[in-house]
Amino acid sequence: MRLPEELRRAIEREVAAVDARLLPRAARELSQRYQEGEPSALRSPAHLAAYLQTRLPATFAANRRVFEEVAARMPGLAPRSLLDLGAGPGTSMWAAAETFPGLEKITLVEREAPLVVAGRRVAAQSRHPAVVGAQWLQQDVLAKAAGEPHDLVVISYALAEISEKATAQFLRAAWDAAATLLVILEPGTPAGFARVLAARTALLDWGAHLVAPCPHAEACPMAEASDWCHFAVRLERSAAHRRLKQGALGYEDEKFSYLVAGRAPVELPAARVIRHPLIRPGHIQLTLCTASRLEQRTVTKSRKDVYRQARQAEWGAPWSD
Ligand SMILES: C[S@@+](CC[C@H](N)C(=O)[O-])C[C@H]1O[C@@H](n2cnc3c(N)ncnc32)[C@H](O)[C@@H]1O
Repeated sequence: MRLPEELRRAIEREVAAVDARLLPRAARELSQRYQEGEPSALRSPAHLAAYLQTRLPATFAANRRVFEEVAARMPGLAPRSLLDLGAGPGTSMWAAAETFPGLEKITLVEREAPLVVAGRRVAAQSRHPAVVGAQWLQQDVLAKAAGEPHDLVVISYALAEISEKATAQFLRAAWDAAATLLVILEPGTPAGFARVLAARTALLDWGAHLVAPCPHAEACPMAEASDWCHFAVRLERSAAHRRLKQGALGYEDEKFSYLVAGRAPVELPAARVIRHPLIRPGHIQLTLCTASRLEQRTVTKSRKDVYRQARQAEWGAPWSD
């Protein structure tokens, strides 16, 4: 997964405006806070630049992957409006505009002024008129989550930063604002998944229909197995990103948990692949989430069509046979 070229260039410009000597330390601090599940705390221009260069590509890739899954599950979907709550520098908007170019109206709510200022500047470089013309609201989502309905409402990597006490009310307001879909993304950690699972329970109580990743609305078998449901997306690292992360690899894998809930029922797949398929001589082993349980499925070459499907199935893909 790569960033759109104009976004990559706009980030480079933001980063070039900061003293390069301050970036490695800022990137290390951000990475440490992220791994400890702490809020990003973009305390300085260097932290903001490091965030744009190291974290934005990862959350962009996760968002893009989720929107692609939404588009696959709902082929006729053509959302016209997007509300992003806890928008940071506008990452989800960029990913949504790539998947849904028919977006006309985008509203972003973000508490931190430096992110709003940088996000606006970066968005001005987009080739999508809706991204350029997005409305940025610098305010607390707890004050603003409700409001005018939007086709898509997104909460991306932001639930962790809402106090536990306020989460249910915030989610309810986000759901009330979602005319078609509410999309929630979290880090692919046990804590991130726990937040997604709590949102799943609440949304089902409120009459929401699940769109992805769950192939059913029964009790979550991952939770019952004390496991956590998460997926991964591989993103290219730019040369500057590699230098900053002191990573030799030209890519990184971003792990994420997510939930998409909608107003109307959609056809769900029979199952979802929830681990990397294990390709063995003569057979492939799949771990599937099905309507009733987690299931280990061995697909042998004797079932040609199913075997071919299994060869192409990736972690996170829907599965029917
Ligand atoms: C980890 S960042 C994620 C940014 C972006 N959504 C993404 O996926 O890249 C979380 C963002 O939520 C914002 N945030 C946290 N609590 C907030 C609140 N109560 N109101 C508005 N924004 C909030 C933070 O300032 C931060 O920019």
